[in-house]
Amino acid sequence: MRALVMTAPGGSENSEVREVDAPRPGPGEVSIDVAYAGLNFVDVMARRGDTGYAFEWPHRPGLEIAGTVRELGAEVGGLSVGDRVAAVPTGRGLAEVALARAELVVPVPDGVALREAAAVPLGLATSLLLLTEAGRFTPGDTVLVHSAGGGIGSAIAQLVPLLGGGRLIGTVGRPEKAAAAEKGGYDLAIARGDGLAEAVRAATGGRGVDLVLDPLGTTALALDLEVAAPGGRIVLFGNAGGGTVDALPPAGRLLSGNLTITGFSHRGLVAAAPAKVANATSRVLGFLADGRLAFPLSELASLADVPAAHDLMAEGRATGKYVVQVGG
Ligand SMILES: NC(=O)c1ccc[n+]([C@@H]2O[C@H](COP(=O)([O-])OP(=O)(O)OC[C@H]3O[C@@H](n4cnc5c(N)ncnc54)[C@H](OP(=O)(O)O)[C@@H]3O)[C@@H](O)[C@H]2O)c1
Repeated sequence: MRALVMTAPGGSENSEVREVDAPRPGPGEVSIDVAYAGLNFVDVMARRGDTGYAFEWPHRPGLEIAGTVRELGAEVGGLSVGDRVAAVPTGRGLAEVALARAELVVPVPDGVALREAAAVPLGLATSLLLLTEAGRFTPGDTVLVHSAGGGIGSAIAQLVPLLGGGRLIGTVGRPEKAAAAEKGGYDLAIARGDGLAEAVRAATGGRGVDLVLDPLGTTALALDLEVAAPGGRIVLFGNAGGGTVDALPPAGRLLSGNLTITGFSHRGLVAAAPAKVANATSRVLGFLADGRLAFPLSELASLADVPAAHDLMAEGRATGKYVVQVGG
């Protein structure tokens, strides 16, 4: 079978599609014929060699798939060969066959295309959990989202209206991405730079925002604290720039503002609370099935196109969410 292989830390020069052996499921596992796979920034972080993302080289990326069940391992119930499913694989998902723990394999409802389902187990499920589980979103909240034009950022804009609606302010790394973020559902998108705090304050009538969703390590944390409204929640969920993160700020600002800083990790939930990821995946698939969610995707035709798309993501030039067609 064909699989995307990253041979060494670096860029697309170290990514290639290779023939490898198809995996067989162990106890509690399912093998899946992958129809589509989602692209995620975590694969870019692994590719560039960020600590804690690739544990061996060559590295086989891919953490989000949709396809059909190929084979059931021992002790797996409730699934049958041929079922249409979406899953968080045990890594190595950018391949024609991937393995997943059964508890992270979710049926795809009739009427939902596998192409769309492939964006759910990591990207859309994370976006939902950021809002609900970590962010305690309440209808009417004003939400500030950094990297608003990317995969997670665009999904959050689609999900907020389904959770009761709120005001959405996004930041983007390049001015030319602001228009796409606003087209994708943000009430206002601002390029990060001087005057950002003032712009956010002005946009909220001086009150600030109820919730900040921040994947920028701690580089924007001072700003987040500056623009958080009383009682505001800040969710740190990434470190897009790589490198070390700073210590958290002194408690004084949190105490005086009744503020909360929360961490979020999809990988952490996969390990410690997989049912939360599976439930979020099912819930988003339900939104797609009943037509309440129509999520725009950029589709790549084959695994060979993935390294160039990873380049766009690594350079901050990608917009929206990418999926790749892998199998038939
Ligand atoms: N904690 C979790 O479980 C979890 C799960 C999924 C994703 N994430 C995080 O959420 C973020 C979005 O993920 P995604 O898969 O949807 O990717 P994405 O948004 O499509 O791409 C990543 C974005 O990060 C921003 N960025 C900021 N500094 C960067 C830098 N130094 N180099 C490259 N990009 C930089 C860029 O947008 P701007 O320049 O517009 O800011 C870029 O477009 C990522 O940081 C990812 O690690 C976390």
